[in-house]
Amino acid sequence: MKPIFILNGPNLNLIGEREPEIYGAGTLAGIEEGLRKQASAAGLEINFRQTNHEGALVDWIQEARHASSALILNAGAYTHTSIAVMDALRALSIPIAEVHLSNIFKRESFRHRSYVSPAVTGVICGFGAQSYRLALAAMIEILESSSAASHRGLHA
Ligand code: DQA
Repeated sequence: MKPIFILNGPNLNLIGEREPEIYGAGTLAGIEEGLRKQASAAGLEINFRQTNHEGALVDWIQEARHASSALILNAGAYTHTSIAVMDALRALSIPIAEVHLSNIFKRESFRHRSYVSPAVTGVICGFGAQSYRLALAAMIEILESSSAASHRGLHA
């Protein structure tokens, strides 16, 4: 099975230091470590990355088309601005989860619009680091049930 890509956009490298009342005290490295364990318990690998650059995020989403079995994306502020990210996501045919640490609907109105949501399978937000764990659990279940179905010859 190809790895699950977990991609993080701008400023997420600063969680733990940045606005801890909103984003919590945990670091991105801590989140990555927990997700790696969660995936390996299911016999899966993750490919976890962060960038502050929109073009890099688009490149990685394009890479995920062939190199990953599923994608978990926290696009940070690009969620609310990037048609390029949305277009890149629309070229994928794997399951995709949009995640946010904070509940974007409880915050400023400019955060209520997501260019990511129309292009993904589902959205999880507002549970802090647990948003990622819930998204990974969902992706694992989807992948396990589709591989069980393909073993039974139901679908690919
Ligand atoms: C975020 C929410 C975005 O609105 C914000 O720009 C971020 C982080 C979150 O995880 O809660 O950078 O994606």
